[in-house]
Amino acid sequence: MNWTRIAAVDEVEDDAGMPFKLDGRDLALFRSGGEFFAADNVCTHQYALLTDGYVEDGCVECPLHQAQFDLRTGEPRCAPATQPIRIYPVKVEDEAVYVAVE
Ligand code: FES
Repeated sequence: MNWTRIAAVDEVEDDAGMPFKLDGRDLALFRSGGEFFAADNVCTHQYALLTDGYVEDGCVECPLHQAQFDLRTGEPRCAPATQPIRIYPVKVEDEAVYVAVE
């Protein structure tokens, strides 16, 4: 797996997300409950950046129409989104967060 360093652990507050670009994709690094998640940053419903939304309990809520996505699976937890966001592998090493995009 090809790991890329995205941020230092303390750069991302808990229950928040930060946007980043990798291989030309708009991605997001989220932290919730002390755990890190990497996902597509663009909502699958219409165009909104999920890092502008609300993060809680392993879930991100889209700022535009409030669809919620599970950050472990990417699956929507409620309407209006019906398609999942992509989730990417994350690891923490030496106080830094790494993401792998295939
Ligand atoms: S754009 Fe995200 S729920 Fe509509």
